[in-house]
Amino acid sequence: MENRSQWGTRLGFLLAAMGSAIGLGNIWRFPATAYENGGGAFFIPYLFALLTAGIPFLIMEYTIGHKYRSSAPRSLGRISKGFEWVGWWQVLVSFVISTYYAVIIAWAIMYAYFSFGQQWGDDTTGFYVGEFLQVADAGVLGGLVPMIAIPLVVVWLVVLGILFKGVKKGIEVANKIFIPLLAVLFVIIVIRALTLPGAVDGLNAFFEPNWDQIWNGSVWVAAYGQIFFSLSIAFAIMITYSSYLPKKSDITNNAFITGFANSSFELLAGIGVFAALGFMAQASGQGVTDVVQGGVMLAFSVFPEIVNQMPFMSDIFGFLFFASLTLAGLSSLISISETYVAGVSEKFNISRTKSVLLGGGLAAIISFLYATKGGLNYLDTVDYFINNYGVALAGLFEVVAIAWFARELKGLQSHANSVSDIKLGTWWRICLGFITPVVLGYMMLQNLKNEIV
Ligand code: PHE
Ligand code: NA
Repeated sequence: MENRSQWGTRLGFLLAAMGSAIGLGNIWRFPATAYENGGGAFFIPYLFALLTAGIPFLIMEYTIGHKYRSSAPRSLGRISKGFEWVGWWQVLVSFVISTYYAVIIAWAIMYAYFSFGQQWGDDTTGFYVGEFLQVADAGVLGGLVPMIAIPLVVVWLVVLGILFKGVKKGIEVANKIFIPLLAVLFVIIVIRALTLPGAVDGLNAFFEPNWDQIWNGSVWVAAYGQIFFSLSIAFAIMITYSSYLPKKSDITNNAFITGFANSSFELLAGIGVFAALGFMAQASGQGVTDVVQGGVMLAFSVFPEIVNQMPFMSDIFGFLFFASLTLAGLSSLISISETYVAGVSEKFNISRTKSVLLGGGLAAIISFLYATKGGLNYLDTVDYFINNYGVALAGLFEVVAIAWFARELKGLQSHANSVSDIKLGTWWRICLGFITPVVLGYMMLQNLKNEIV
């Protein structure tokens, strides 16, 4: 336990935490979510959620990891023996996510390649849902190997290779390369998008506030849901990452930096995506509303269409977009996979190498199921349940266990305050002991209600 791996530098930890937070959620989830939930008015519930739940929860997770210096299951088990399972639940959710995150990254790699010469053709939706997924299925080597298997193998080799190397030489080094590179590529994309004709229409649509929406409970649920997913909270990730912090670490400040960096990237993505959508609406003679999409359809159907319409250097634009998606995805996939690598190696007292092979190997094998015929359907179903139940439940279990059952908030508060410049006050315990459980509970009920209706 004493020679636990450590981050080499504070910046290394911050970049790794940002790498986890900044992901597909920022690029393809946030823009459409904000647009559909009040546009400019969404920023109020969003900021509220960031400050009353997101950052307080992140401070709590950083403190747990730093104080108990173990992966999520063991850290939570140390707070109270009965709570180890909460950590395992989170690890399981992360494991499941990792199996399909890898596939999406493999798609992004394929599309980065397709960008050259717009190999997706004129009917981008048809290509994606039809040809691409079929071709991906049809494969190479006389049809023996699905084509998507090649980038998928690459993704896992990269991720498992990085995890083999460990915290400092693997995860930290990778994020020190990926995240600055991602920032540069993404800024180029946003600038290019902003200079396209029609960009202003997109921005107007995005920022136009729909104030009525503020009184709509589901808008608030969407805001809290976005914050939880986007900050990689309650996925066992942030506890694991902060368990590698040295004794002297300003936890609270680190949490604020991570939270604001993630939200800045989210805002930047919203601007870039909507500028591009505004251009596409104009080029195709439609309204912005008609072209707004989120999720895989935004990335693999709308963006190729945007690239098709672009006046010049469209190949590069497409390539940069899918390269960004790949980098953002990889740094998140590394963090999710580290949760079970750390959890399993601690639980069964085996080496990192063995737990990477076991956990990562199993995740890799399962991920190939999505690459087969009908795989997209599994992916959608799994993603739906993870988003609607996995995350909210994991957050609810964790905060209720710590605040209400173990009554551990005061202890965590004094631990955080002993190492941080910003001192936590009662407000922090109110956010976690009251606001967060109420919101997460309400979120669960809403989701269940929607299920029945
Ligand atoms: N936080 C990541 C994002 O915004 C998503 C993610 C969730 C990553 C869970 C890892 C684990 O895209
Ligand atoms: Na995010």
